[in-house]
Amino acid sequence: MIGRSVLTIIPPELHSDEPRILATIARGERIEHFETVRLTKSGTRIDVSLTISPIKDDEGGIIGAAKILRDITEQKKIADTLQRSEKLAAVGRLAATMAHEINNPLESVTNLLYLARKDHNMGERTQEYLKLADQELDRVAHVARQTLGFYRENSAPVLFKVSPVISDLVDVYSYRFRNRDVHVERELDEAAELFAPVGEFRQVFSNLLVNAIDALPSKGGRVRIRLQSGHDWNGTARSGVRLTVADSGGGIAPETMPRIFESFYTTKRDIGTGLGLWLTRSIVQKYGGRIQVRSRVQIGTVFSVFWPREAAHGESVAGISA
Ligand SMILES: Nc1ncnc2c1ncn2[C@@H]1O[C@H](COP(=O)(O)OP(=O)(O)O)[C@@H](O)[C@H]1O
Ligand SMILES: [Mg+2]
Repeated sequence: MIGRSVLTIIPPELHSDEPRILATIARGERIEHFETVRLTKSGTRIDVSLTISPIKDDEGGIIGAAKILRDITEQKKIADTLQRSEKLAAVGRLAATMAHEINNPLESVTNLLYLARKDHNMGERTQEYLKLADQELDRVAHVARQTLGFYRENSAPVLFKVSPVISDLVDVYSYRFRNRDVHVERELDEAAELFAPVGEFRQVFSNLLVNAIDALPSKGGRVRIRLQSGHDWNGTARSGVRLTVADSGGGIAPETMPRIFESFYTTKRDIGTGLGLWLTRSIVQKYGGRIQVRSRVQIGTVFSVFWPREAAHGESVAGISA
């Protein structure tokens, strides 16, 4: 660099900053922790923090400047990641609140429509309209439920029997199973118990179940739900429950697989939010559990979750991770 202009390490579009910096130094002032971009020897751009102080002679005249540049690329990356996960957490909370606010009126309207449709005095036209309204409502309910419907429910851990929780949720979707001739098989260990927040467990199962239904063709297909009490399959002695949801749907393409747990990644144009699996995994991990997936295109998909009976001591149980 000796003998060359300082502009060599400054990106062209920032050259105009230099006179401003020099003017500041000429006034005898310092510049501290100024975040900007500089070029390395090979021409790559790095984020730097700049501190410049004037160098003075014995009479106080300014004869030069001392510049210190710190490479802050890594810090920048960490800050960006943090900001992204904060954004995601905020979006999660927002969606949860909305789903919560929407669910109650939705339930009422669904019930009202049901009652209205039982009134056989009305004309055929009206019957037909009500039927359509019911179907549209079903779509809204689907999205709301799938988003974060159970998120806000009591989040204190309690000891509960798992199999009734699963059966209840299967009943919630039974209308859709019947409508689409889906064959549902249940193999539930009645004794399986967990010490966990029921709402979040429900959220996990519901997301997997909804995805299984979505993967099936418009008529037919199979969903198998299995619940076992047992140990973690990685060979450790941790006890807990294993929940398996398998479908005979279209499967997940190998190139899609690495992305399915990303937030907002969806292959369902109309009804997809891309939050289901992301949320599912963050809940499972929050309680020290694990989630696995196996899939073959045109054959089907199997999701397995291991949920430890109690979150291990000292395990982090707070916050949503990206
Ligand atoms: N059982 C499944 N069968 C096939 N693809 C699935 C299954 N579960 C998840 N996927 C894929 O993973 C994507 C992300 O799922 P998810 O996070 O639940 O979001 P969404 O259901 O809103 O699309 C889906 O769009 C789909 O492509
Ligand atoms: Mg989903």
